[in-house]
Amino acid sequence: MFGFTSKCLLSLICFGLINYELVDASDIPKNDENKPHIIFILADDLGFDDVSFRGSNEFLTPNIDALGYHGKILNRLYSSAICTPSRGALMTGRYPIHTGMQHYVISNEEPWGLPENVTMLSEIFQKAGYSTNLVGKWHLGFGKREFTPTHRGFDYHYGFWGGFIDYYQRRNKMPVRNVSMGYDFRRNLELECADIGTYVTDLFTHEAERIIMANNNTKPLLLVVSHLAVHTANDQDPLQAPEEEIAKFQYIKDPKRRIYAAMVSRLDQSIGRIIHALEKANMLQNSIVAFQSDNGGPSVGLFSNSASNFPFKGQKVTQWEGGVRVPGVIWSPLLHKRGSIFQPTMYIGDWLPTLADAANIPLSRSGLRLDGINLWPALSGDSFNQSKQKLDREIVHHLDDIWHVVALLQGDWKYVNGTMASGRFDTLLTYRELYDIDPRSSDYFAAVANSTTSQILRRYDASTLERKLVNKLRYEAAIRCGNGVQRSCNALLEECLYNVAVDPCERNNLASSPEYGDILRRMRRRVEQHRHTAWPTNNRRGQSEYDPSYHRCTWTNFLQDTPTDDYLVCGNDGPPCESAN
Ligand SMILES: *[C@@H]1O[C@H](CO)[C@@H](O)[C@H](O)[C@H]1NC(C)=O
Ligand SMILES: *[C@@H]1O[C@H](CO)[C@@H](O)[C@H](O)[C@H]1NC(C)=O
Ligand SMILES: *[C@@H]1O[C@H](CO)[C@@H](O)[C@H](O)[C@H]1NC(C)=O
Ligand SMILES: *[C@@H]1O[C@H](CO)[C@@H](O)[C@H](O)[C@H]1NC(C)=O
Ligand SMILES: *[C@@H]1O[C@H](CO)[C@@H](O)[C@H](O)[C@H]1NC(C)=O
Repeated sequence: MFGFTSKCLLSLICFGLINYELVDASDIPKNDENKPHIIFILADDLGFDDVSFRGSNEFLTPNIDALGYHGKILNRLYSSAICTPSRGALMTGRYPIHTGMQHYVISNEEPWGLPENVTMLSEIFQKAGYSTNLVGKWHLGFGKREFTPTHRGFDYHYGFWGGFIDYYQRRNKMPVRNVSMGYDFRRNLELECADIGTYVTDLFTHEAERIIMANNNTKPLLLVVSHLAVHTANDQDPLQAPEEEIAKFQYIKDPKRRIYAAMVSRLDQSIGRIIHALEKANMLQNSIVAFQSDNGGPSVGLFSNSASNFPFKGQKVTQWEGGVRVPGVIWSPLLHKRGSIFQPTMYIGDWLPTLADAANIPLSRSGLRLDGINLWPALSGDSFNQSKQKLDREIVHHLDDIWHVVALLQGDWKYVNGTMASGRFDTLLTYRELYDIDPRSSDYFAAVANSTTSQILRRYDASTLERKLVNKLRYEAAIRCGNGVQRSCNALLEECLYNVAVDPCERNNLASSPEYGDILRRMRRRVEQHRHTAWPTNNRRGQSEYDPSYHRCTWTNFLQDTPTDDYLVCGNDGPPCESAN
């Protein structure tokens, strides 16, 4: 509990108003030989209700659920609403407004990335002696080499640089009219041609296993597994999963949702395989394994994969809970009181100081200017002063003055001003499926207990995971919308104010109640304060010379690459170069 009681409580009072500062290096016991391995698994566009630990029986995620039941369910975990901002916050511990990443994602043909003068999590861990590895998606820029993972603190990267690829050919066609299809798959800076045609969720899992086995406990490991799953592939074939996986979900009538379930299932199995590899490499007893989605699922519209964020309104891209509150779990033998629900509000930017503390890495008091908070003492310890936290915890969900969207959380209060997509996604977009039922859900407990993850993690439990506990946690993790007075809010025209602790479904706008006038005014003022600290956005327009057709049909470091008309990418078996249409 080093340093928690004095300094962390102080910062609990101050966070939001003052940049969070970690404890002095001198407070931290040196324990270099025993730093924990950290395995962080990020899903892409996975909906809030597309894991089964919240109660859905449509298709089960026994491995993810088991990770939570043997560890902790992160009940109120928030991310940004889209990929680039949330990955930026994860990697820097800062709000997107404090890195210039707040406005919109990096489209592949755009020459910008996360500013080089901001320190990243990977750089911190690399400097502290960790072996740092990224498997999968990056999406923080690749226009020049200096933006890419191996220049940003990762010793090793296997995967893709851009927003998405397809699951077999690893090519990307951005939904931009005059940009052509390009190949995007690398091992470090080199194009990686091996295994084209193998389902990429399995490839990433296999690569994670390989890294773990090769590490074999020789060096503290940071492994970020950043899955493509369950993002859509290219437009003409957006949902992709192996036939044998889809066959397991024949009972799902909606054909899109059926394939989606198979994509989620493969992702779920990935967690089981990673846990198994850690156990085989004798690393699990000193590991922290965390899993979360990068943002809400896109139920409809661009990149919609048929995800469900039930019962929240909104989805990916929006400031509603369906866009920013995400599924997440953590497991580690270093956590006390496992088999519980972690209630405090948590932000994706908290991982940097939290994991650094877990690894005894002192962070510079002034240099990082973190917005994230060190939750390791709370996560790993037994208790947490929730009432204190409730008063103070703040998250800037959105502050974008280009599209005029603001969303701020302070304690239980959420202030919303403006909305995305002209309000088209401002409702509950999906309902929980009650008729297409996973046959395994007739004995949900057995399905969870039978998962690879549970079979292995139970060896670390003081007492057997019981049906009663699983049912209790699942019941408590279910979201209850409450049935207070319904006062809707048109965020295009008016400010909205919700108490999300009792009204997580944002159905009862309190902005016009005189009773809450002080809160409304306080939050408005706070938005203004944040507005003054926001960096200008980094976004830059794409240009035609960045098109893959000028770069051997690949997405490459176009600011440095010499255009050529050599169209061979990965030998003669490589993908053809498809032009823009
Ligand atoms: C870092 O770079 C950004 C632009 O990329 C700039 O706005 C910011 O002021 C710089 N910060 C520091 C501390 O140099
Ligand atoms: C892993 O390390 C152990 C103990 O140091 C050793 O016995 C084993 O051979 C190693 N395994 C591999 C695959 O290198
Ligand atoms: C448990 O797993 C085994 C092997 O994976 C499988 O054959 C069996 O049907 C499973 N049982 C349950 C209850 O899911
Ligand atoms: C709320 O939105 C309106 C319209 O975009 C804007 O004029 C006002 O400044 C916003 N208020 C805050 C606190 O951001
Ligand atoms: C797309 O077309 C516009 C208008 O012709 C042009 O300005 C832009 O550079 C093109 N972008 C790309 C990436 O080709």
